[in-house]
Amino acid sequence: MESLNAKHSSLFLAIFLLLSALANAKLHEHEFVVQATPVKRLCNTHNAITVNGQLPGPTLEVNNGDTLAIRVTNKAQYNLTIHWHGVRQIRTGWADGPEFVTQCPIRPGESYTYRFTIEGQEGTLWWHAHSSWLRATVYGAIIIHPREGRPYPFPKPHRDSFLLLGEWWDANPIDVVREATRTGGAPNISDAFTINGQPGDLYKCSSQDTFIVPIDSGETNLLRVINAALNQPLFFTVANHQMVVVGADASYLKPFTTNVLMLGPGQTTDVLITGDQPPSKYYMAARAYQSAQNAPFDNTTTTAILQYKSAPCPAKGVSIKPLMPNLPAYNDTNTVTSFSKSFRSPRRVEVPTEIDESLFFTISLGLNNCPPNFGSSQCQGPNGTRFTASMNNESFVLPNNISILQALHHGIPGVFTTDFPANPPVKFDYTGNVSRSLWQPVPGTKAYKLKFGSRVQIVLQDTSIVTPENHPIHLHGYDFYIVAQGFGNFDPKKDTSKFNLVDPPMRNTVAVPVNGWAVIRFVADNPGAWIMHCHLDVHITWGLATVLVVENGFGELEALEPPPEDLPLC
Ligand code: C2O
Repeated sequence: MESLNAKHSSLFLAIFLLLSALANAKLHEHEFVVQATPVKRLCNTHNAITVNGQLPGPTLEVNNGDTLAIRVTNKAQYNLTIHWHGVRQIRTGWADGPEFVTQCPIRPGESYTYRFTIEGQEGTLWWHAHSSWLRATVYGAIIIHPREGRPYPFPKPHRDSFLLLGEWWDANPIDVVREATRTGGAPNISDAFTINGQPGDLYKCSSQDTFIVPIDSGETNLLRVINAALNQPLFFTVANHQMVVVGADASYLKPFTTNVLMLGPGQTTDVLITGDQPPSKYYMAARAYQSAQNAPFDNTTTTAILQYKSAPCPAKGVSIKPLMPNLPAYNDTNTVTSFSKSFRSPRRVEVPTEIDESLFFTISLGLNNCPPNFGSSQCQGPNGTRFTASMNNESFVLPNNISILQALHHGIPGVFTTDFPANPPVKFDYTGNVSRSLWQPVPGTKAYKLKFGSRVQIVLQDTSIVTPENHPIHLHGYDFYIVAQGFGNFDPKKDTSKFNLVDPPMRNTVAVPVNGWAVIRFVADNPGAWIMHCHLDVHITWGLATVLVVENGFGELEALEPPPEDLPLC
């Protein structure tokens, strides 16, 4: 009797705790109206596709544990989906967003409500369109504060700001990608980078609207930096101020000090910055990290201004120029390497050590020979070819009339196959001089199947086909540990011993070193169809992607939820 009572009271306590946690968790409802909006940048006005007429789009600010319901109404002329980049979407794959992977696009005039809960993630994520190149202007920040009533693992910042680094074309970005697809060549490079939608003082017609970040002497503020650019890894630095990195991709890190960040598209980095300099104005600047060879790139610099509240007012008619920081050289890979080697989890973490699935994926660009029925205007890649890209020699093609997740859930055959290779079909000197015969991958819609709960390791190996390049590889539905990275060809004999299985950083996007490799590990505990792709949009356009299909486990709690009723029709 006694013990039964004890059991009962602990059960009641558990229920009480659960209910009070649920009572604190909030539901955030938003309306996103996607529409063409006149936007003036670099002296010209374009009809940009925006959310609610804003660029960047609305900020989603939540606590860990909260639920979001975002009704997206498509009033633009393009098909559209929205992806909540980095949100784990545990059992809610239907809300993940990539077009033809987890849903069919929201057609013009239609709407769809994305419903999902933030579970165990704190820091900064972001959302963006996941159709064609719409994310050039359809993106915004997701700020995740600690669970209601819980502290940050660092002193509470005085202010909290975010800087969305974007990329702007003085053209319609959809026309830019369509033209590239037509010609087979590389798309036109962008005309500006932006910070919170503004190019900043160094561009024409832009200085009126340069973004200002306020700070006061003695304050320590949290700055959330997000690389939302389409095709360019970026360096970021602040004149005269050090940054203490405390998180990335909504996972905390062991703090370290640096004066420059590098973010691949998709990545976020949270830093603390202290107002310890003479009160004045200081530029915060971002520009390209360009690791590809002989490829044109946007070499312009975007700026915002870190402005002290107590900065002395200039005399009438005099304007003080903010101090400009030094940025690393465009090709400064050494700075990138030492920056990424500083990343550690704050404490010992549980990294899978027994591995069920040991995978090795090559990451390659490629060149297809001009098909016989194509004219020379359609083969404007190097030497009359067309650009392509692949993982393990498979150039990923999206389905076009139903999503992979719907096909998986309803057992519809003929949409995708599950024979994506666990290893490259041919072994070669990946980072050496690769024979031209290996430059043409095979198009297809192949996924790799994983059992629920399997412990996965993936070696991501860059190749020198066309050009080596630092590729930001992003996996949907998961965070993973980056246990090692290096240059050259991954060699299990000598590189395995260097794995950090103690406190590796957790991320959702890994910048795979140029002409090198990275090793990630995770447990496949989230059923669904999850795209893994290079976050340089031009590379997705060319096929640098695959899909991991994770099967359901036992019972409802290990199974994908049923599809929502308003899931867009194909
Ligand atoms: Cu941020 Cu599949 O993307």
